[in-house]
Amino acid sequence: MDLGIEGETALILGGTQGLALACAESLREAGVRIVINGRNAETGAAAVEKLGDAARFIQGDISDPDERARIFDDATAVWGPISILVNNAGGPPPGGFGDHDRATWLAAIETNMLAAIDMTERCLPSMTTRGFGRIVNITSFAVREPYPNLLLANSVRAGLHGAMSTLAREVAQFGVTVNNLLPGLMDTPALQRVYRAQSLNENISEDDARARMADSIPTKRLGTAEDFGPMCAFLCSRHAGYMTAQNITIDGGLVRALL
Ligand SMILES: NC(=O)c1ccc[n+]([C@@H]2O[C@H](COP(=O)([O-])OP(=O)(O)OC[C@H]3O[C@@H](n4cnc5c(N)ncnc54)[C@H](OP(=O)(O)O)[C@@H]3O)[C@@H](O)[C@H]2O)c1
Repeated sequence: MDLGIEGETALILGGTQGLALACAESLREAGVRIVINGRNAETGAAAVEKLGDAARFIQGDISDPDERARIFDDATAVWGPISILVNNAGGPPPGGFGDHDRATWLAAIETNMLAAIDMTERCLPSMTTRGFGRIVNITSFAVREPYPNLLLANSVRAGLHGAMSTLAREVAQFGVTVNNLLPGLMDTPALQRVYRAQSLNENISEDDARARMADSIPTKRLGTAEDFGPMCAFLCSRHAGYMTAQNITIDGGLVRALL
């Protein structure tokens, strides 16, 4: 299917590996010109190599407001105004109620909420003027079902959903859609760190820790980046112009919710 977005320009924050890189790959297949961002230059270079000619990497930490301003300016200078924005970063540290000091809370709010709001504000003017824009936020299944020992993620991601749900209704009339993708347990470097830690803490093999996690999912397997990227590309397509303010969970049935 032709997604109708050939030649569009995407900025994919935190896009050098895992789920956001999968989004970049699917958008690239649809003919979109890509700018990916991340902190590690080597990972960024490897990702660009994978994506091919119409992809560039901009190094920077989106938890820093000044860095965000530079990343936006540099990204716009590569291919012109951004028409597709994918907001992503690594998740906040684990812990329960009362485990985090003020600085840790503020860092989580900055990285996983304000960064997405700030970058969206920067990209919106050219999108609304042109009458076409796509904003996709990568959040978590924990927004539907708060996960034990992930207090910061459970809290901050819910806040971002509130902001994006409000925005979606404000900009729908200008041809800009705003949607959220909620990954379940996806076998990316982030999740690999989790089951490696479980294997060490519980003195079980890494394979056993991984298999136990997979067994908790109705599909009996972890998700993959390939399960994720195509949905992102579809949300960014011309065909998805009437889909906005949606929360799409890609989790193999993990969240046991009716809606
Ligand atoms: N995988 C899962 O099972 C799962 C489940 C629920 C939610 N999620 C959430 O979904 C998001 C994507 O997950 P993932 O599994 O793809 O994560 P990942 O494999 O750890 O990849 C994260 C990407 O974001 C970049 N990044 C992290 N912090 C950044 C920062 N401050 N500034 C710029 N770039 C940054 C990383 O590159 P650098 O490190 O080089 O910066 C990397 O490219 C995360 O927020 C994660 O918490 C994932």
